[in-house]
Amino acid sequence: MASFPIVRPRRLRKNKLIRDMIAETNLTEKNLILPIFIKEGILEEEEIKSMPGVFRYPPNDKLIKFVESSYDNGIRNVILFGIPKYKDDIASSAYDKNGVIQTSVRLLKDTFGDKLIVITDECTDEYTSHGHCGIVKYNSKGEYFVDNDESLKIHAKIALSQAEAGADIIAPSSMMDGVVGAIRKALDENGYTDTLIMSYSVKYASTFYSPFRDAAYSKPAFGDRKSYQMDPRNAYEALKEAKLDIEEGADILMVKPAHTYLDVIRLVKDNFPDYPLAAYHVSGEYSMIKAAALNGWIDERTAVLEITTAIRRAGADLILTYYANDIAKWLKEGLPF
Ligand code: PBG
Repeated sequence: MASFPIVRPRRLRKNKLIRDMIAETNLTEKNLILPIFIKEGILEEEEIKSMPGVFRYPPNDKLIKFVESSYDNGIRNVILFGIPKYKDDIASSAYDKNGVIQTSVRLLKDTFGDKLIVITDECTDEYTSHGHCGIVKYNSKGEYFVDNDESLKIHAKIALSQAEAGADIIAPSSMMDGVVGAIRKALDENGYTDTLIMSYSVKYASTFYSPFRDAAYSKPAFGDRKSYQMDPRNAYEALKEAKLDIEEGADILMVKPAHTYLDVIRLVKDNFPDYPLAAYHVSGEYSMIKAAALNGWIDERTAVLEITTAIRRAGADLILTYYANDIAKWLKEGLPF
């Protein structure tokens, strides 16, 4: 007498040891990249209102202390965002040798050397008075536009100054056409052939960046970013963007946001499995969880580990997340699954 059912998927879920033995996805703190905001002109860290638990740090020993404590948690990768004192039309403080990012990179590299991967976000929005990711011009009707090819010159200049300061990886986030190629060329011509490029290849025009723009004072003064960041309705367009970045010399690709675009992560990974893929769990995705947790509506630890595991399961090798330190600590207690 054959019993029914013969195939019982529940056998593989019987107890924790079996579940751990066959788990497809793993998550470790080595997969995480911690974003850090660094603000010129302050002496103490200040908490960001729309991102409770996240701070802006001054480029001094306070920054070192924070990175040291993150390092002790097991964090080995950081990405830096600069908030300059001075803004103008051409983002000149973004390529200043003594700019906030250049100073911070030198400080971190002097302290940690090769033990820490220092990544620099490469964009103009925090450094321009207009808040756009490139050079703004006006057409004959008086309408503004972001001039792609003029912007490339500035992006190459910023990237080179970040490499000169000692950045291990440059992360262009402007979504200008050709930006990866322009940066690769500038780096190679100046002897930085070993500096990596992690491109924000697939970056959507998302409302989930709002807390970040609060944090970095980088909201566009007029217009929006829809003429350069991707339309949330499109998935396959991601393949075109990723392919171009690969041809232009990107080492690591990125999809952003992460939680809202798991399908796109899977699509990019399946089509370009030989390229490491990063996914950015962005500020708004952080703040939503934080707000619910502060209200006692969800269990923060379980929610964050479930979401981060989902981002890995979708195909991301690396995750940029403001929860990096918490995750590293929570992982020491084991996964909640
Ligand atoms: C551009 C940049 C942004 C983010 C990362 N790089 C802002 C934007 O495109 O408006 C957003 C990250 C986040 O929301 O956490 N420098």
